[in-house]
Formats: sequence, structure tokens, C-alpha cells
Amino acid sequence: MTATDEVTSFLAILDGVEHLVAYQAGEVLLDCMLAEGLDPAFQCMDGHCGSCMVVRISGDVEMRKNNVLSQRDLDAGYVLLCQSIALNGEVLVDCDA
Ligand code: FES
Repeated sequence: MTATDEVTSFLAILDGVEHLVAYQAGEVLLDCMLAEGLDPAFQCMDGHCGSCMVVRISGDVEMRKNNVLSQRDLDAGYVLLCQSIALNGEVLVDCDA
């Protein structure tokens, strides 16, 4: 069992509302949010455009790839929803930031 197998949900702030989103092991956060009918910003879904960038407030994620965020962005807490896999159950991202 990997760490991601244990993650069943994460929190996402979108349009000022905090949502509890069901998490499927190995899925990216964007896909989980879309599956629940949420509508965070995104375009390419491939780590290139940056339109899905959000601030990770807590928890740990791993990005499959990142072709747009700078080290400065990463240091500021930005992650890409379309590339981020939850590594633990403490993940909270702010899509309004
Ligand atoms: S949707 Fe383009 S980087 Fe995520």
C-alpha cells in the first residue's frame, strides 16, 4: 500500500466556499473536483498553461509534471491542480488565491 491509497478526500476552497472532495488514489486533484461538479479554472490539463495553479495551504502533493511554475511559484506554495496527486489526507488547496 502506498501513501496515496490512504487518502480518501481533500479540501478545496473555490469561490469562497470550502469543499470536501472525494479523492481516488492516484488521481489528480483537478479530475476529482470535476467529478464532483466543481468548476475550477483549467485549460490544457497537461501542466503547460498554468491556468489551474492554486495555493497549497496544507498537506503534501506531488506533481506529475510542471512545465510552467517557477521555483519562486513553488516556494510560494503554488501547485497545478491538473498535475497534483495527494500524498496525505491533510491536503487543502485555495483555488481563489
Ligand atoms: S490546466 Fe494547464 S497547467 Fe493545469
